[in-house]
Amino acid sequence: MLNFEVVNPTRIVFGRDQLNRLPELLSEFCPSKRVLIAYGGGSAEKIGLLSKIREQLKDFHVVEFGGIEANPQFTTLMKGVELARKESVEFILAVGGGSVIDGVKFMTGAFHYQGDAWDVLIRKENCVFDVALPFGVVLTLPATGSEANSGAVISRDELSEKRAMGGPLFFPKFSFCDPTVVASLPKRQIANGIIDAFVHTLEQYITYPSGNILQERQAEAILSTLIEIAPKVLENPGDYTLASNLMWSATHALNGNLRCGVPTDWCTHMIGHEFTALYHIDHARTLAIVMPRLWENQFDNKKEKLAQYGKRVWNLSGAEVEIAREAIVKTEEFFQSLGVDTKLSSYSGDTDHVAEIVRQRFEERGWIAMGERQAIGLNDIEAIVNQTI
Ligand code: NZQ
Ligand code: ZN
Repeated sequence: MLNFEVVNPTRIVFGRDQLNRLPELLSEFCPSKRVLIAYGGGSAEKIGLLSKIREQLKDFHVVEFGGIEANPQFTTLMKGVELARKESVEFILAVGGGSVIDGVKFMTGAFHYQGDAWDVLIRKENCVFDVALPFGVVLTLPATGSEANSGAVISRDELSEKRAMGGPLFFPKFSFCDPTVVASLPKRQIANGIIDAFVHTLEQYITYPSGNILQERQAEAILSTLIEIAPKVLENPGDYTLASNLMWSATHALNGNLRCGVPTDWCTHMIGHEFTALYHIDHARTLAIVMPRLWENQFDNKKEKLAQYGKRVWNLSGAEVEIAREAIVKTEEFFQSLGVDTKLSSYSGDTDHVAEIVRQRFEERGWIAMGERQAIGLNDIEAIVNQTI
């Protein structure tokens, strides 16, 4: 087992009809009672969630900032920062999925930042958020785990960029996770959520044997749960038991637990982010496109864990190498069974130079040795992307 250190200070309030706890939890972090509520393009209003939150916060000075896009945009978020400063808010409440939550994480850091906050995202020397406003979450989409972690991904479409940020300042103080929101989700978003949670687990599991028996079995438990519930929750999103298992699995997949004492990969995500930046493909779909091809490219480095996964999660039997190969096929078929295409060319006709572009971006960022063994070099990146087309 590898050494590790872990802390997760986010209070999760899980279950239905819990929002009456909101004023009490907020008061702890917001003595002035000046709160900004941030949300996306209208779903939170449509499902009646915003009106419930307004009702709970009637004794607070509430300012609202809506319109945060899927793949939250730097320029939009800076407008939110201006509003938050003008209104001297002391706390931000994110009401939404990963995009709104990530957008709010960025806003809480940019709120106090004196220079151009984009410099922080591109990691310009000495440019960091060293203080942030406190924030909380009302989750509307189980997928990213952003409600229980300190990472965020921010896009800037005019530059075709999507950049990650994070750090201990960016854990939510609390997150309300009510599975009944799943009932209102379009099938596309439920499928995305299942795949994102599934791939978060795999990024921390399909590496090399770690000797961390507990963590590996926890990962297998999440994968098995998602496989079991996936077709049912797509068919019946109003089923509370299914929805709550989806939501709790997604939170667990990226709350910092699975990475304890094990190697992690994350290269599928890094390539996937470039696909979203270049083609605006939904985050989860980029992962479904990349992961099977990355595994084929890295087969020798990952075959032991692929075989373990094939046996324990997909109940495959036979020779180890055959099981490992079949596990890749099963994974891709699982993504496809959720209605998700796994070829880049199904999403865009303009893929001629994509492999060189992604390679060049990795090189510019110094990402020249990726994956759990630092074995994925620039030639591999180019080869993997070529295989996705
Ligand atoms: O904008 P609204 O109208 O709210 O509609 C949203 C959006 O169009 C809709 N939606 C959300 N809740 C709904 C709903 N529609 C009906 N009923 C509801 N209850 O769903 C659409 C997608 O929302 P979004 O927040 O973009 O989805 P998701 O949660 O999948 O977040 C994706 C973003 O998170 C980042 C991704 O890169 C992407 O930008 N990620 C964040 C991570 C993190 N912070 O840990 C890790 C992930 O790997 C990922 O990179
Ligand atoms: Zn993800």
